[in-house]
Amino acid sequence: MKFYRALHPRPTVVIVTKCPGGRVNLMPASWNTPVSEEPPTIAVAIDRDSYTYQCLKHFSQATVNVPPIEAVDLVYKLGSVSGREVDKASTFGVRLQPSERVEVPQLADALAVYEVEVFREVEVGEVSLFIFRVLTLKLAPGVADQWGFDFRKVNIPLHGAGRAFYRVDPKAIWAKK
Ligand SMILES: Cc1cc2nc3c(=O)[nH]c(=O)nc-3n(C[C@H](O)[C@H](O)[C@H](O)COP(=O)(O)O)c2cc1C
Repeated sequence: MKFYRALHPRPTVVIVTKCPGGRVNLMPASWNTPVSEEPPTIAVAIDRDSYTYQCLKHFSQATVNVPPIEAVDLVYKLGSVSGREVDKASTFGVRLQPSERVEVPQLADALAVYEVEVFREVEVGEVSLFIFRVLTLKLAPGVADQWGFDFRKVNIPLHGAGRAFYRVDPKAIWAKK
């Protein structure tokens, strides 16, 4: 087994970027994590061969979108082709809407959207770990409280391997005090 599989399944986000020529690109990424609370940052490991990498070097703002589990087919498709060859937004009929703090649109159907800008880039092997400063977090109405998503109402795609995704079991297991 590849070493990283023991750390899957993982919540998958869709990163939207602005590319040379002004086109918007989208790619799913499951190697993501919160980093620090102050400043508020999140990080995503992005392959330097991807078009998304090129677009982030061109324009340093992005949106990091948490899709609903119903978007799993779209999420997989967005990760199966490169924006170098395909205008993914129009090819896959993705519904985008303007953001508040960044000049990059966001998924209209996302459960949560982080509007971010590049804070630091750390090159590691074939990827760059992009640490993003979070400018705003927007949540779809009625799907979350201060502790996170209400998984009795909504669910998110956890990426296993290949085309396999998992959902979050809405029944919490409470640890003993
Ligand atoms: C569910 C899923 C998760 C992925 N996670 C990552 C990731 O965390 N980092 C990465 O560099 N590529 C990841 N990929 C691969 C990219 O999404 C894929 O290479 C994509 O085609 C790149 O698109 P682009 O060239 O338009 O940027 C993932 C693919 C899928 C389907």
